[in-house]
Amino acid sequence: MLTGMFTRWLARRGIRLVTRNNPTFDLVPRNVEPEFREAYQRWGGISTVPADAMYGLWRAVEYVVRCNIPGDFVECGVFRGGSTAMAVEAFRHYGDAPDRRFYLYDTFAGNSARRRFRRPHTRAAPGELGRTNHGRHGQQPA
Ligand SMILES: C[S@@+](CC[C@H](N)C(=O)[O-])C[C@H]1O[C@@H](n2cnc3c(N)ncnc32)[C@H](O)[C@@H]1O
Repeated sequence: MLTGMFTRWLARRGIRLVTRNNPTFDLVPRNVEPEFREAYQRWGGISTVPADAMYGLWRAVEYVVRCNIPGDFVECGVFRGGSTAMAVEAFRHYGDAPDRRFYLYDTFAGNSARRRFRRPHTRAAPGELGRTNHGRHGQQPA
């Protein structure tokens, strides 16, 4: 009832509300670059990463190329490689130099076992750091 009223209120203002359950819902917004939409058609299916995060990756690559930021590309936890494939396509699309190296890592056996880490004692008074994890590992606070 309330949703219907809200939807009609929006419609009077020229806004169509489409939820994810609607068969016409488009995962990739229409106002993004067509090259991204095409790349997402290719790689979205082999990635577990949602379209909005893939688009974030696409734009991050654009930033790296436009600002001439050198360095290799590393993905930790590639799974089937969908994100890296998307990144490679974005690097090509934005005309990146061909010598950037890509390093892909994964256990290829799922998540590694959880381990418990003790948080450093952040409320230590000056001079007390010898009793914290920082102190035990010989690191000095910044
Ligand atoms: C959510 S998936 C990654 C999705 C991927 N970026 C994509 O585009 O589909 C997480 C991956 O991280 C891997 N992983 C988990 N713990 C890891 C670890 N300690 N070292 C390397 N890979 C790890 C898993 O095997 C899994 O393939």
